[in-house]
Amino acid sequence: MLRVDGIHSYYGKSHILHGVSLEVNKGEVVSLLGRNGAGKTTTMKSIVGIVVPREGSILFDGTTISGIETHKVAQRGIAFVPEHRGIFQLLSVEENLAIAARRDSIWGLSEVFANFPRLKERRHNRGSDLSGGEQQMLAIARALVNGPKLLLLDEPTEGLAPVIVDEVVQVIAAVRQSGIAVLLVEQNIKVCMNLADRHYILEQGNIVYSGSRDEFCTADQVRERYLTLN
Ligand SMILES: Nc1ncnc2c1ncn2[C@@H]1O[C@H](COP(=O)(O)OP(=O)(O)OP(=O)(O)O)[C@@H](O)[C@H]1O
Ligand SMILES: [Mg+2]
Repeated sequence: MLRVDGIHSYYGKSHILHGVSLEVNKGEVVSLLGRNGAGKTTTMKSIVGIVVPREGSILFDGTTISGIETHKVAQRGIAFVPEHRGIFQLLSVEENLAIAARRDSIWGLSEVFANFPRLKERRHNRGSDLSGGEQQMLAIARALVNGPKLLLLDEPTEGLAPVIVDEVVQVIAAVRQSGIAVLLVEQNIKVCMNLADRHYILEQGNIVYSGSRDEFCTADQVRERYLTLN
């Protein structure tokens, strides 16, 4: 479904991604791991066209998306939920969802409220009244009602209390259940091991490891070498 092939991305003269290749297949949850500054966010930005790779290609559903504008990438069916969420602070939960909703999405408001009970409770509250966890859930929900085929989540559990982390994990599991593929950047290794079918590790802009769920579970040395364990 998504095939990133040998991309090189830069910020000005800084060469950040050195030939990153990865794949996400239909219905999969794939994690992208790596230490701070490894290039995880830059990889996501490159996929959605916020950063334009200078070399390499990105294919989605068999067509090239590298070089096309960000809103067109979204129209093709890739939703990006960035680290800093970007929900509308002055709009209510319901309004935030309504402006993003597309009729052809399998996730409508009723599906969202069934899977995110917290959002249902808070549906008349403004974005600015929500806790960090609720804002994260709203950002994910907003991406879902837009009808994506692939969801890119950048550190969805960062800074959240453990009980809220569990709720976000359940939400991501529900997303997978609904047939939407997920590329997940996540520092919480337990969350990744819990959710992902496959894993990639980035180190200084290079993919240094890829493995299945089972392979990764037993790859203690890989985890120690490339990841900050927590
Ligand atoms: N807008 C920018 N301009 C210049 N350099 C940047 C910019 N954004 C990121 N970088 C640099 O690019 C490198 C990769 O950053 P990136 O944000 O992709 O890492 P990351 O793996 O997402 O890290 P983190 O875990 O801290 O979120 C870092 O060295 C970072 O300092
Ligand atoms: Mg990042």
